[in-house]
Amino acid sequence: MYPFTDQFMSNDKNVEFLKATMMGPNAMRLSEELSSRLNINDSMRILDLGCGRGLSTMFLVKKYGASVFAADLWISPTENYRRFKSLGIDGEAMPISVDATKGLPFANGYFDLLFTVDAYHYFGNTAGMLPSLIPLVKEGGYIAVAIPGIKYEFGENVPDEMKPFWNDEMARTIHSLAWWENLWSKAGGIKIVDIREMNCCKQAWAEWLASPDPHAKEDVKMMEAENGQYFNFIQMIALKQGI
Ligand SMILES: C[S@@+](CC[C@H](N)C(=O)[O-])C[C@H]1O[C@@H](n2cnc3c(N)ncnc32)[C@H](O)[C@@H]1O
Repeated sequence: MYPFTDQFMSNDKNVEFLKATMMGPNAMRLSEELSSRLNINDSMRILDLGCGRGLSTMFLVKKYGASVFAADLWISPTENYRRFKSLGIDGEAMPISVDATKGLPFANGYFDLLFTVDAYHYFGNTAGMLPSLIPLVKEGGYIAVAIPGIKYEFGENVPDEMKPFWNDEMARTIHSLAWWENLWSKAGGIKIVDIREMNCCKQAWAEWLASPDPHAKEDVKMMEAENGQYFNFIQMIALKQGI
């Protein structure tokens, strides 16, 4: 199911590159599972929203030859441009600085696909966000999201072993599949065509926890306590419909 990622990671130098570039569970593997439900090709223009250091962008360019706008808040476009140049993908990957909550500088109907991996939960959990993004995608195009989630809403009943790690920011951003489905079902102009727990959750997390990044080191204890009981990864794909 992950031929590109497995092939990439069969090379030790590539594994070191990934460890140094990941910002969370392996975005390349998550991108490959999410994209396996889409028909991406080299004529497509894609918005990779919340691309971080651009692993998903690199995947979309290298695997499919697509043109990708690599848009992010925390990582500077200059850093991403340098990386894209060193990877030889600066012709197809356009780095740009955005804050999705403040509006995006693109024409309506510009993108064949809005793709977002391990980022949408930070800004997409309001009733207004999806309706603000839908116009950017052309009719017949798709919005595809992969985000960390939980198997059920904790509400006030946070499991004891998760209490040391569960904070207001997690409560705001981490939700169940049913919660996201309910939020997306309220948006007009789209049809949800795929919503599921992702298969690569455990592996993508394990690959991240092997990174020397201090955030990964902090996550090790949380994942030991969680022990496969509560977390999942959720993917959602919506088709932009005609009006
Ligand atoms: C955990 S990192 C993941 C980055 C990358 N997608 C990956 O998986 O490696 C979350 C990303 O979400 C981005 N992000 C958070 N809030 C955002 C916003 N309001 N607009 C755009 N990007 C945002 C951050 O800049 C960050 O790079």
